[in-house]
Amino acid sequence: MSQKTYSPKVPVHIDPPKHDPFTLTELAQYDGVRSDKIYVSILSNIYDVTRSGSYNPGKNYHIFAGRESARALGKSSLKLEDVLRGDDLEGYTEKEHETLQGWVRFFEQRYNIVGRVKN
Ligand code: HEM
Repeated sequence: MSQKTYSPKVPVHIDPPKHDPFTLTELAQYDGVRSDKIYVSILSNIYDVTRSGSYNPGKNYHIFAGRESARALGKSSLKLEDVLRGDDLEGYTEKEHETLQGWVRFFEQRYNIVGRVKN
């Protein structure tokens, strides 16, 4: 889907955001292969998406696992070249900015923030 529904079907308890610092290399450990937990970063906020299942190895959204995915999410892209550009929003249209903001709301409502990407 492309973020049509923002509200989780089942109410989700969201913990206060944590500010633990992660490098992109540390984030990459949380890909569901090297770790049981799966994290996805959007604009440097790191969400624990483990309970989704959609990011598990072999599943549709595994490409986002352990990665900063802002660019690809706003572009509704599952292309590796977009995912690997991380939070580079160069060339983004107004619509893509809106789509990204929709994803931020989607993730905020479902997943705990476990840290921040720091360089
Ligand atoms: C044929 C095209 C697609 C179909 C049929 C589809 C279908 C779905 C469905 C049914 C969900 C679950 C919705 C929910 O839990 O509320 C979902 C979630 C999602 N979709 Fe898609 N999708 C498509 C394309 C895409 C594309 C191109 C992207 C790239 C950004 C994308 C990214 C996501 C993400 C990030 C989630 C949230 C997964 C989660 O956190 O559990 N989807 N999609």
